[in-house]
Amino acid sequence: MPLLVVQIVDSGGVGAGGLQNSSQGTLDLAVNAVGHMPGPRVKVERDIAADLPDVTVDPDRIVQVLVNLLSNAMKFSPAGASVRVAARAERGGILCSVSDRGPGMTAEERDRLFQPFVQLAGGAKVGGTGLGLVITRHIMEQHGGTITVASTPGKGSEFSIWIP
Ligand SMILES: Nc1ncnc2c1ncn2[C@@H]1O[C@H](COP(=O)(O)OP(=O)(O)OP(=O)(O)O)[C@@H](O)[C@H]1O
Ligand SMILES: [Mg+2]
Repeated sequence: MPLLVVQIVDSGGVGAGGLQNSSQGTLDLAVNAVGHMPGPRVKVERDIAADLPDVTVDPDRIVQVLVNLLSNAMKFSPAGASVRVAARAERGGILCSVSDRGPGMTAEERDRLFQPFVQLAGGAKVGGTGLGLVITRHIMEQHGGTITVASTPGKGSEFSIWIP
């Protein structure tokens, strides 16, 4: 199983210890973490390219991003549906997407998602605080990356992060 290959910025930053080149199972950590969450059993399908470039990230924060996107996808999926995680090289970095076959959302709803405490119809019923995506976008900005959403109401959603 190919792993997301990351360069770990150690606790001393890019100074003393410098950058470490390490194959860190970032995606595995995230999938394992959500595997311990209560809720309907949802299968996670993976489509991870073998030729991912090294990227410089804070691995704990990127795991947090992936856990939030995966936990959302699982929360809003009908039981028995599968969630897909894909990663490929893109513009010198990595594009990683989490797709689900949940309720999806309208363009207007999509525009409100990244505001604090916003939960769409049904969102609050499933639990959570409505802060996950706010934190997620903040972490992506700190990495100089992006997060984008594509969604069709009734069909599902795809959240994509790009790590430079
Ligand atoms: N994959 C998704 N499918 C449908 N709706 C989603 C999806 N992801 C997020 N949402 C909607 O966006 C809202 C905000 O998501 P966000 O992750 O910020 O908060 P939360 O999951 O409700 O709580 P928290 O992440 O803080 O535990 C959700 O409540 C839900 O209404
Ligand atoms: Mg969430």
